Amino acid sequence: MNLFVTGGAGYIGSIVIEGAIEAGHRVTTIDTLAEGHASAVHTGARLVCADAGDRRALDELFASEAFDAVVHLAAETTIADSMTDPARYFRNNVGTTLALLEAMRRHGIRRLVLSSTAAVYGEPESAPMTEDHPVRPINAYGESKLMCERMVEWFCRAHGFAAVAFRYFNAAGASPSRGEAHRHESHLIPIAFRAALAGVAVPVYGLDYPTRDGSCVRDFVHVLDIAAGHLAALPALDRIGFASLNLGTGHGQSVLEVVDEIRRISGRALPVDLLPRRPGDPVTLVADGSRATRLLGWTPRHSTLPDILQSAWHWTQAHPMGYPD
Ligand SMILES: NC(=O)c1ccc[n+]([C@@H]2O[C@H](COP(=O)([O-])OP(=O)(O)OC[C@H]3O[C@@H](n4cnc5c(N)ncnc54)[C@H](O)[C@@H]3O)[C@@H](O)[C@H]2O)c1
Repeated sequence: MNLFVTGGAGYIGSIVIEGAIEAGHRVTTIDTLAEGHASAVHTGARLVCADAGDRRALDELFASEAFDAVVHLAAETTIADSMTDPARYFRNNVGTTLALLEAMRRHGIRRLVLSSTAAVYGEPESAPMTEDHPVRPINAYGESKLMCERMVEWFCRAHGFAAVAFRYFNAAGASPSRGEAHRHESHLIPIAFRAALAGVAVPVYGLDYPTRDGSCVRDFVHVLDIAAGHLAALPALDRIGFASLNLGTGHGQSVLEVVDEIRRISGRALPVDLLPRRPGDPVTLVADGSRATRLLGWTPRHSTLPDILQSAWHWTQAHPMGYPD
């Protein structure tokens, strides 16, 4: 397929593109590089540095060649920031997605894979959560992504779009050549490995949650499994019509369990710096991924905690400063 990928210089997008190129797809990606890195983009893909909500840029690109599908990853992604600056989240996540959908419609592109998130659920009433779990986001990030899902579903109903919204749980790990290096890092695993290398403490936000050890519980899914989900979705979109699908493993690990495993893998002491809870963090997020298995034949193959952490550790050691740009 000829794919148009937004946010392809970011963590997950760069690894989705790597998988897509290896699978024989053609790829153009648009990224502002506000968070992403040009050097993370596979050399077989074309990188356009522009905003995915820029009508003129989209019209030019969509008029210049025929794209079979759009994979929309570009977004603001930090939960804590979304609690203090929600407008940025609605402007970029909701506004950009609407501009993209309208441009797709103008140019007759009707297939879409959207990056959504487990943050659409809010506090869990059960774990693991199926896609039928109530959606009541407790942060503006999750709210903005839920609005994106709803817009996409309406474009499917009204304009014959075909789409899958993937609700990723905690993306983690690395491919041998690409890994997680956000400019403003808020994710536990890269922060902890960098702390281990630097010999400093890793911050842990809250040890008073109602969980087995007091820290939050998350479902970590290998970024290679997330990329595989996208590749499985592309040929299935026309058959599916519209679906929101969890991408997770069904198993939760607590923050302290992850820190312990990072100590074991890195061989470093890695002390913990206990901080107050962060606003907007749900207690537990664990996915029931059986709908993705049923509809796409997707199952996580790389997502045991040791596999995830080994891959992240290899990448961090090889790239202690992240990407050069
Ligand atoms: N990382 C996770 O654990 C996780 C979990 C759930 C959902 N997601 C979603 O997955 C997607 C990718 O996440 P990520 O961790 O790779 O984030 P990332 O920040 O590494 O990647 C996002 C990329 O989009 C670009 N971007 C942002 N706004 C843009 C715009 N308007 N136009 C063009 N480019 C723009 C950034 O420069 C960046 O390169 C996001 O939509 C995020 O909400 C991520």
